[in-house]
Amino acid sequence: MSDIKRYRDLVDTLNRWAVAYYNDDAPLVPDAEYDRLYRELEVMEHNDPTLVAQDSPTHRVGGTAVTAFESVEHSVPLMSMGDIFNDEELHDFDRRMSEFQEGIQVEYCAEPKLDGLAVSLIYENGVLVRGATRGDGKVGENITANVKTIKSIPLRLNGETVPEYLDVRGEVFMPRSGFERWNENARLKGGKVFANPRNAAAGSLRQLDPAVTARRPLTFNAYYIGECRGYDLPDTQYARLQALKKLGLPVNPNVKVVNGASGLDEFYKDLLSKRPALDYDIDGTVLKVNSIKVQEAMGFTAKVPRWAIAYKFPPEEMMTKLLDVTFQVGRTGAVTPVARLKPVYVGGATVSNATLHNEDEIKRLRVKIGDIVVVRRAGDVIPQISGVVLEKRDANSVKDIVFPQFCPECGSKIERLEGEAAARCTGGLVCPAQLREEILHFVSRDAMDIEGFGSRIVEALVGAKKVKSIADLYLLTVEDLASLVLDPGNDGKKARLLGVVTAKKLRKALDASRSVPMNRFIYALGIREVGTSTALTLAKNFKTFDDLMHAKLNQLLNLPDIGIVAAEHILDFFAEKHNLEVISALLAKGDLFSAGIEPVPLPQIAEQQAENAPLAGKTYVITGTLSSMDRSAAKEKLQSLGAKVSGSVSKKTYAVICGEAPGSKFTKAQELGVKIIYEDEFVKALAKFGV
Ligand code: IVH
Repeated sequence: MSDIKRYRDLVDTLNRWAVAYYNDDAPLVPDAEYDRLYRELEVMEHNDPTLVAQDSPTHRVGGTAVTAFESVEHSVPLMSMGDIFNDEELHDFDRRMSEFQEGIQVEYCAEPKLDGLAVSLIYENGVLVRGATRGDGKVGENITANVKTIKSIPLRLNGETVPEYLDVRGEVFMPRSGFERWNENARLKGGKVFANPRNAAAGSLRQLDPAVTARRPLTFNAYYIGECRGYDLPDTQYARLQALKKLGLPVNPNVKVVNGASGLDEFYKDLLSKRPALDYDIDGTVLKVNSIKVQEAMGFTAKVPRWAIAYKFPPEEMMTKLLDVTFQVGRTGAVTPVARLKPVYVGGATVSNATLHNEDEIKRLRVKIGDIVVVRRAGDVIPQISGVVLEKRDANSVKDIVFPQFCPECGSKIERLEGEAAARCTGGLVCPAQLREEILHFVSRDAMDIEGFGSRIVEALVGAKKVKSIADLYLLTVEDLASLVLDPGNDGKKARLLGVVTAKKLRKALDASRSVPMNRFIYALGIREVGTSTALTLAKNFKTFDDLMHAKLNQLLNLPDIGIVAAEHILDFFAEKHNLEVISALLAKGDLFSAGIEPVPLPQIAEQQAENAPLAGKTYVITGTLSSMDRSAAKEKLQSLGAKVSGSVSKKTYAVICGEAPGSKFTKAQELGVKIIYEDEFVKALAKFGV
């Protein structure tokens, strides 16, 4: 292709993609693909300036304003930022910054690059009067009513002295946990499913009805001051962020002052390693010269600040080819379509499988075998297909995905009950896949924690029909186990016998598992909707396992965190004859052929709070790493003052104690508008009480 043709192609493609991204909140390709072509365009324009077209996307600050909202002008434009991708470019950046200051080692404020939507918030005499999107940088959309529904955005600033006028810039984003919850619910109940948290945030913020925005789990972090009058601002970026925090604006806790290229590099690596555990998407770091004086002296190019750069992380979304779809049967019989992909490096790992959830999801995505798809892998969530790149589809080489009518494992009919998203194999006991998954769940770490029973051994046990239920595991002799023939799997080895040594180990592990805390036993049974925390609640509130088996609906509903769905699954489970038979076999004692499990009851939760203790009735949550004490010490101190300490944030949480690198609890607190207490304030407050 000639240069001119390639150039025109790039401009048109990028412009088309930008409209889909900014105006429709529905990207056509992953960001990494957009960035790749954008870079190619930049290089072409740099090498041959005569090519540069009027409508080149490099001429924009970014995005275009849509007309549904009232347009507002930004008195100080919202700038875009240059980006870099490797160590060499990082050193170039640091060198430029240093040269500007006669070669000194430069101090930077290093921040996470939040992957949401940039907004400007205007406070007049401390009162929030306007919220606006970036739009094209100069003109944005008035979204005041919508930003007011975001609980972490203060409607009024804190403190006795507040600026007369403050235009603060920051990012509105949807935490990963909120995004997953939202999509899960939308998949079940038929709502809008979003490709990623950023699109979810954009789509939610630009709702014409603020009541819709209010229902979306959005939050906000401030990171820059566009304009400020009638207030003495400190003279570094970092100190300004602290000033914003004091005014009640949430600031990301992973912001740090670092020195020189080595400091920047260390920050980048450290944040990259924390990335999977964060509850929000970040697509890199933003590195800003800390001194405001230097920032002002360096100023801006037409589009970007000279004193800041975005150092991007490897992408969490990539394109690859969908090679095939297979169907997996889970422990409850749910049939899940699994995408088999051309291996692709994404979000820090090579991915070759991704879930397609269910039949509706396949329809929603309109995906076909042979398509180029977008794979998203963020945090510890299993990889997902977040979109199809329709423009790369070759209609002649794709084929429809056909959802099976019969179980691929046992041939039983697959049924989909009304109102359920999942299709299930009706084989029950005869389905080896269900039994296999049930056993794997039973032996897993959070359940009975029986070491050694990996998927190949369980597969062989079920295949050889040595076990027909989880209770049969305890009846296996060393000989039964030793004679198992293990499938070679796909590592090319020959099939082999399990052997006596391993068999003895397995038998020992089974024997050692008999006495088990009641919560683990409850979880191990695999009751639908009963995860580890619900199992713990049940174990704490029923004196014996027998009491739980005979629980009534209202008893269950009276417990914290147990809703009608879980309660009904629990009742159904204990009403089912087969389940009662298995339980009775598991609990049976007396002869050689009994499993003899002993669920050990937990101490009842009767920690009576002293009513006059200073923090009585208040529930605290601790997140992040505390530097002055460990978490258990902090917990004990709070409890000694009569407070309750909980593991999860809800509306009932009084405050969240926040250390370094906090996780999802921090964002949840921001989302719910729960008070956040940082470690220094916490330590001071404890000292007041003499603890
Ligand atoms: S500072 C003049 N800081 O990156 C510089 N931007 O700016 C003003 N972004 O879409 C921006 N995290 O929404 C800044 N810690 C951070 C940021 C950040 C994310 C976004 C911002 C904009 C893009 C380029």
